[in-house]
Amino acid sequence: MRPAIDTTRPSPARMYDYFLGGKENYEVDRQAAQIVLEAAPEAKDVALVNRRFLVNAVRYATSRGIDQFLDVGSGLPTMQNVHEVAQAEIPGARTVYIDNDPSVLEHAEALIFGDPNTGYGEADLMTPAEIITHPVTQRLIDFSEPVAVMLVAALHFVPDSSDPAGIVKALMEQVPSGSMFIMSHVTTDAISPVVWERIQRQQLAVPLHLRPGVDIRRFFDGLDLIEPPGCVFLEEWAPGAVLPIDETAPLKLRCGVAVKP
Ligand SMILES: C[S@@+](CC[C@H](N)C(=O)[O-])C[C@H]1O[C@@H](n2cnc3c(N)ncnc32)[C@H](O)[C@@H]1O
Repeated sequence: MRPAIDTTRPSPARMYDYFLGGKENYEVDRQAAQIVLEAAPEAKDVALVNRRFLVNAVRYATSRGIDQFLDVGSGLPTMQNVHEVAQAEIPGARTVYIDNDPSVLEHAEALIFGDPNTGYGEADLMTPAEIITHPVTQRLIDFSEPVAVMLVAALHFVPDSSDPAGIVKALMEQVPSGSMFIMSHVTTDAISPVVWERIQRQQLAVPLHLRPGVDIRRFFDGLDLIEPPGCVFLEEWAPGAVLPIDETAPLKLRCGVAVKP
C-alpha cells in the first residue's frame, strides 16, 4: 500500500517545488515557504541556482562518459530533470531517482512513464543499503561501471547523529573507481543568526541541519574534488545563472563534484 501524503505539515520536497515555481504544493507548504522567504527573500533564486548547479554537474559527468545517475533526495519532477539532461547528452543514459516523500512518488511515476532507462525508488537516504538493494536501483544501475551519485540539497536534512559522512561513504563504497559524487548543502558560512532563528521557527516536517563550509568539504574526503572550482558557493558552479543572486545574500549553499580515485 502507498504511504499517505501528509498535507497537514510542510514537506521539504513540496516547499522546494513552490520555490521553483511548481504547482505540486499545498497551502501548508506555501505558508512555510513564505516564512522562509520573509527571512531570506533570495530563497527562490537560490533554489533556481541550485538546479542550475545540478544541470551543469550532470552535463559535466556525461562529458566524462558517465551514463548512470543515482539521484538521492531527488525532489518532485521539475524542469530539466536529471534523466532529461543526461539523455540529451548520452541517449540511453540511465537514472534512478530516490526520495522518501510520498508526494514525490506520485509525480515521479507520471514523469518517467514508459521510459525503460529511468526509475523511481522510495527509500530513506539514512539507510544507504536500502537504496543500493532497491529493485529499481538493481535493475537500472550496473555497479561494475562508473555511476554519478547525487545528494543535491539533501544532506542538510541529515543530523550529525545519523552520520551524514558515513552515508556518503557507504554509497560511494558501492561504486567503482571513476564514479562521481555530486553534492550541494546549505551552509552557515553566510547566514545571519536572525535569519536562521526565523527559518527554524517554521517547524519543518524534516528539520534542516546547516553546516559550515569546512564540514561540508569533509563530505568529499577520500575523493578527488574537482578543483577549480572546489567546494564553493553554488554560483561558481553555475556561471551565467539566469537569476544571479545577491553576493551578500545570507542563504547560501556550498557545492562540489568529486571523482572516486
Ligand atoms: C530541497 S529538495 C532537493 C531536490 C533536488 N535534489 C534538487 O536539488 O533540486 C530535498 C529533497 O530531499 C528529500 N529528502 C529529505 N530527507 C530525505 C530522506 N531521509 N530520505 C530521502 N529523501 C529525503 C526531500 O523529500 C526532498 O525531495
